[in-house]
Amino acid sequence: MSDKRIAIVTGAGQGIGRETSVVLAREGFTVVCVDMNGAAAQETATLVNGIAAPAMDVRDEAAVAALVAGLERCDVLVSNAGIWKFTSLLETPVSEANDVLSVNVVAPLIWIKAVAPLMAKNGGGSIVHLTSVAARAVASGTGIYPASKAGVIALTEQAAVELGPMGIRVNAVGPGRIETEGTAGRTGGNEDSLIGASAIALGRWGRANDIAEAIGFLCSPQSSYITGQVIWVDGGLTIGTNDYLRHMRTSKK
Ligand SMILES: NC(=O)c1ccc[n+]([C@@H]2O[C@H](COP(=O)([O-])OP(=O)(O)OC[C@H]3O[C@@H](n4cnc5c(N)ncnc54)[C@H](O)[C@@H]3O)[C@@H](O)[C@H]2O)c1
Repeated sequence: MSDKRIAIVTGAGQGIGRETSVVLAREGFTVVCVDMNGAAAQETATLVNGIAAPAMDVRDEAAVAALVAGLERCDVLVSNAGIWKFTSLLETPVSEANDVLSVNVVAPLIWIKAVAPLMAKNGGGSIVHLTSVAARAVASGTGIYPASKAGVIALTEQAAVELGPMGIRVNAVGPGRIETEGTAGRTGGNEDSLIGASAIALGRWGRANDIAEAIGFLCSPQSSYITGQVIWVDGGLTIGTNDYLRHMRTSKK
């Protein structure tokens, strides 16, 4: 078996997933880059000297199984791919809610089922999920997204309990407002933006690298006794509850 540790990153084509691939490659992992945008996955793989998976939907159980079957080992899984839609609950179509829940909650389960046996064969590993501050301080007009990210926390805790005896740690990172391709056009830095930087204790939106470094820590031996936890990486957004909520209530969508 190869000595080189393997990390799978989903949603690796851009944003937090691409930056996570960079950090994990720096830490010595061979990174398998997964995205529904195959060209973007290939670009990240080239950037980090990793492996591009064929374009796939993270919910495609057969494609996930085929990918994992081709790996000799798997030490790390970062289930990062996620989607969100801006609708009030009353205007959220059930089909859209199902879509968000299946990408954000069911897909991480599919990946856990696929990689856990392979990780266990080699003594264990680390799985990291992406939750969101939306699970902690709900913003109106974000459809089923907050519920999906709250679900991610419960999934993380349950997986930590069930996989712990296999030597597999399962944690989550909870980003605040992070500038990525996915949030382009809504980013902070000025008070005219949808959510101004003044609502954030550290006074700025986060960068993808801020999240990637926390993920890197959870994938490293430095976190070997941490499981079932969420690390909130939000610049203090959710501890300033009053300001945050006041801001959210007065913000125009
Ligand atoms: N950016 C933020 O402010 C923020 C805040 C909280 C949580 N998050 C979470 O962090 C994660 C990454 O966010 P981001 O801003 O980098 O997103 P992004 O939209 O910039 O990138 C997401 C990537 O995932 C891929 N993807 C989406 N659905 C997929 C699917 N079904 N199958 C395969 N690939 C798929 C996309 O092609 C894209 O490359 C998400 O889970 C998101 O919910 C982000």
